[in-house]
Order: sequence, then C-alpha cells, then structure tokens
Amino acid sequence: MNNTQRNGPAVVGLVVGSSRPGRRGPAVAGWVAEVADRHPAVRSGEAAVELIDLAEQRLPLLDEPVPARFGEYRHDHTRRWSALVAACDAYVFVTPEYNHSVPAVLKNGIDYLDAEWRSKPAGVLSYGVTGGGRAAGHLRTILTEVGMTVVPEHVELGLFTDFDWSGEDRSDPTAAGRIAPGEGRAAMLTAMLTDLLDAARVVAPVAGR
Ligand SMILES: Cc1cc2nc3c(=O)[nH]c(=O)nc-3n(C[C@H](O)[C@H](O)[C@H](O)COP(=O)(O)O)c2cc1C
Repeated sequence: MNNTQRNGPAVVGLVVGSSRPGRRGPAVAGWVAEVADRHPAVRSGEAAVELIDLAEQRLPLLDEPVPARFGEYRHDHTRRWSALVAACDAYVFVTPEYNHSVPAVLKNGIDYLDAEWRSKPAGVLSYGVTGGGRAAGHLRTILTEVGMTVVPEHVELGLFTDFDWSGEDRSDPTAAGRIAPGEGRAAMLTAMLTDLLDAARVVAPVAGR
C-alpha cells in the first residue's frame, strides 16, 4: 500500500483457507472482518478488507503447465484467481490445522501464483483443536518462499478455548460451536493488522506499487 501513489484504500485480502462443507472457516473469517472493521485504518477509509474464499474459486489441483514464476497462465480459472489476488496489497491468511499442516486447498491456491504474492505483507491466523500452531508454522515457511513478508504478530484460536459449545452436543462430529474468542484475542488481531498495514506502507513503494 502506498496512498501517496495510488487512490483508494489499501486492500487487505482475507483468505479463507478451507473448503469442506460445514467448515468453521467463514465464521472465523467473519470475526476477523468484524475486528478489522473496528481498526482505525479501516474506520478512516485508509484500508479495506476483501474476502477471498478459496471454496468459491473451485480451483482444480494445479493444472498449469508452466510454473507460476513465469506468469504464463493458460487457464481462465488461473487468470480469475490471479486478478483477485493481485488486487490486494496485503493478506490475512485464515488457516485451520489439518494433520499438522495447512489444508491442501490453501497450499494449492498459493502454488497457482507467484508475482501476485511477491513482496507483499501477510499475517497468519490459525485455528484447530489446540490453535493450529503447526499449520501456522508451515504456512509462514510457504509464504516466505513465495517472497511475502510475514509479520511476527499472529493469532491462534483453539476449538475448546475460543468457541462456545453451549446448547450443542460435542460428541456430534457435525457440531461446529460458535466462535467466541477468548480474552485478548481481538487485541492480538488488531496488533497483527497494525503490523500488516505498517509493513504494506514500507513495502509498497519499494515494490513500485
Ligand atoms: C482432515 C482434518 C485434519 C485435522 N487435523 C488436525 C490437526 O492435526 N490438529 C488440530 O489441532 N486439529 C485438526 N483438525 C481439526 C480442525 O483444525 C478443525 O476441525 C477446524 O475447524 C477445521 O477447519 P474448517 O472447519 O474450516 O475445515 C483436523 C480436521 C480435519 C478435517
């Protein structure tokens, strides 16, 4: 982001990293959007949040013949995905933990592109039974490999600490609980957003955006 060079707010892409029916991802992303809406930069119109839901993209498993680094996209689904991602100045990745890592749909979506991510800032919010920290660690490594600047602040939400299960049968495998982040989580997320927007201000002029 560099509001001295471009018109309009810095756009923070809020990437929902899961796609299964009944997923908690949209509820978690909804809470992130609510907290972001209260951030001073969003309230002042300096920044805006754009939801990027991988489930809506329905990307096949990577089917581009040329690696993304060369930017030669053959498929319309890749061009659509590229345009959506390229329009953002920074990203918050909302990832669950699947078998100690990120969901395949998220890794696949990242692998499709290259320049669209490069040199932009990213923040990671993970969730899982115990907060998804192992997925967050993998994701930080992946994002760094595509040239992103990952801010140090991060947020983890645990299914037993940051969801409200009242009125639900927790032995039912389809019970999802309601998102109810614990004390201090919103403040941590706000700090992450501040770091992210600060990084965007520094990085954008260097990257020529
Ligand atoms: C395939 C799969 C693997 C999972 N593996 C882990 C895991 O390794 N660690 C963990 O804390 N939670 C794990 N979970 C629990 C998920 O993090 C939790 O169900 C979360 O809500 C999944 O995100 P989603 O609802 O957006 O799909 C797993 C869930 C699934 C579906």
